[in-house]
Amino acid sequence: MEAALRLFKLSFLLSLILGNSGVIGSRTLPDLASGPGGKFPSPCNRIECPTYELVSSENGYEIRRYNTSVWISTEPIKDTSLVKASRNGFSQLFYYIHGKNDKSQTIEMTAPVITQVSPSDGPSSESNFTLSYYVPRKYQADPPPAKNVHVQRWDTRYVAVKQFDGYVSDDNAAKEAAELEESLKGTDWGKAIAKSRETGGVGFSSAYTVAQYNAPYELFFRVNEIWMSFQIDK
Ligand SMILES: *[C@@H]1O[C@H](CO)[C@@H](O)[C@H](O)[C@H]1NC(C)=O
Ligand SMILES: *[C@@H]1O[C@H](CO)[C@@H](O)[C@H](O)[C@H]1NC(C)=O
Repeated sequence: MEAALRLFKLSFLLSLILGNSGVIGSRTLPDLASGPGGKFPSPCNRIECPTYELVSSENGYEIRRYNTSVWISTEPIKDTSLVKASRNGFSQLFYYIHGKNDKSQTIEMTAPVITQVSPSDGPSSESNFTLSYYVPRKYQADPPPAKNVHVQRWDTRYVAVKQFDGYVSDDNAAKEAAELEESLKGTDWGKAIAKSRETGGVGFSSAYTVAQYNAPYELFFRVNEIWMSFQIDK
């Protein structure tokens, strides 16, 4: 909360300094506009991201086909709050890439950091949150191991994606996920997602995944996405 307040003050200060030119403070995101190329996450122009091809651009969401990818993941973090669990998990991943691994290796930051959300099947209001960092291609064959993290190797997969901006909160993540779920209802994509959740497999069993592309100190042009992964029967 305090950090958020500090950020807010800082962004307010910056908007005073920069004036209301609408260049930096603007809430409209021209590079996120839906176009023939879909909504390419702009931070991926600067840092390495998993590669995908756009399969379909629908009303309010898109379908991507991701190449194989490798992730370093925390153990499931039990919490009632996505934001709290993500802060906890993010710091574990931050130390990992800054050399707290068995090879004392420093690894470049990538995007996105993803949080897989698995709500409890029982009466508990706690969910499992697993945070993961996308491993740069040059380390994918053999990412340095470390205590309390494990490797997730993903086959190629389809992902339904809904993008949103600003800072992720418990409320907006849940709302965006519910909206994506609603948009997919009755579609072939929706059916494939439901089936993949049931059959499970690495990265499929969670209800949804929140992908965050910006570091906490990046105030503007923040890109976040809700992901729902699925496979298509061959
Ligand atoms: C998919 O990943 C492989 C292995 O990392 C790479 O050689 C290939 O170029 C990638 N394909 C695309 C379309 O990005
Ligand atoms: C949450 O994680 C724990 C520990 O890994 C696991 O035993 C439990 O089944 C998970 N629950 C859900 C709903 O995924």
